[in-house]
Amino acid sequence: MSEEKKKIDWSDECWKEMLVYQRKFAWFEDTLDKLAAWLGLKPGMTAVDVGCGLGYLGYTYWPYFGKGGCYFGVDMSSQLLQDAAKAAKEWALDGEVCFTAGDVHQLPFPDDFADLVMCQALLMHLEKPELALAEMVRVARPGGLVMCKEPDNLSPMLAKRYWSLPELNIEEQLLFAKVTITCNKGRIKLGQGDNSIGTKVPRMMHKLGLTDIGIRLNDRVFYLEPPYGDPLQKHSLKSVKRELLDEKRRKNLTDRAKKEFLAGGGDPEEFDRYQKINDRIMSILRQQIEDGEYFACGSTDFYIIKGRKSKRM
Ligand SMILES: C[S@@+](CC[C@H](N)C(=O)[O-])C[C@H]1O[C@@H](n2cnc3c(N)ncnc32)[C@H](O)[C@@H]1O
Repeated sequence: MSEEKKKIDWSDECWKEMLVYQRKFAWFEDTLDKLAAWLGLKPGMTAVDVGCGLGYLGYTYWPYFGKGGCYFGVDMSSQLLQDAAKAAKEWALDGEVCFTAGDVHQLPFPDDFADLVMCQALLMHLEKPELALAEMVRVARPGGLVMCKEPDNLSPMLAKRYWSLPELNIEEQLLFAKVTITCNKGRIKLGQGDNSIGTKVPRMMHKLGLTDIGIRLNDRVFYLEPPYGDPLQKHSLKSVKRELLDEKRRKNLTDRAKKEFLAGGGDPEEFDRYQKINDRIMSILRQQIEDGEYFACGSTDFYIIKGRKSKRM
């Protein structure tokens, strides 16, 4: 596989940790109750979770459909599947759980198999998300539901955030916006997915003939304020520290961003200029965290999109 085409290995410890940490506080409990009612989850359903990773969607929705139900987690990574199966012993009670290796483009299930076929943060990493979605639709039973939780990471990156960082001047802000947009363009060109896929899934569902399309947005807001007292703030601070202080991870992210920026048609000198400002920001943030002065507030745009497979499909 060429360097450019290299995909993320989600079973690598640093990413696996993200799958656990970032998910832990991803949704408010009462939001999940509302989502489960909105999706019409009922005990005894058969659900397929595609690109299941550590089985997070199973764990999250099991209380709503698991009793007497069936959960199938599918992923390309056998390492993650092993860990997911181990973790499921804790949460999958009174129903059946099965983890299977498989590719979303060719799912190991017959047509019309499941009441619910779902994914989270999967389509955003694929070269041809429409094909993956079509395969998910094939596996849903007529009248069954397809549900995708996918982010629009691009808009929050472009939005102005209120935080402790001294304000960048307008040229610097425009440079950051340009790099963000160009990187996403490059990412799509390299076949590594689309950071703003969340906004595009509804139309994909519509084109695939799904009906009753509904869309919700996660109501979590990222908020940090010293002394970072409650469990969510403590957790968020830990995530920010990991983002800022893990040098190996930072370097990987910078290398990836540069590749994407160049693939998107960006100018290498412009990237270096951006990187210098970024390094400056990072060192200010590190100092603020050390001094207990860091604060931030901003949204994360995570879309939940549902569509129903028509009885005649
Ligand atoms: C960002 S992780 C999300 C994991 C999980 N859904 C969650 O939200 O915690 C993306 C997952 O998709 C899996 N994946 C990537 N490409 C895939 C494919 N073509 N078929 C099946 N799984 C795939 C990866 O191995 C990884 O576990």
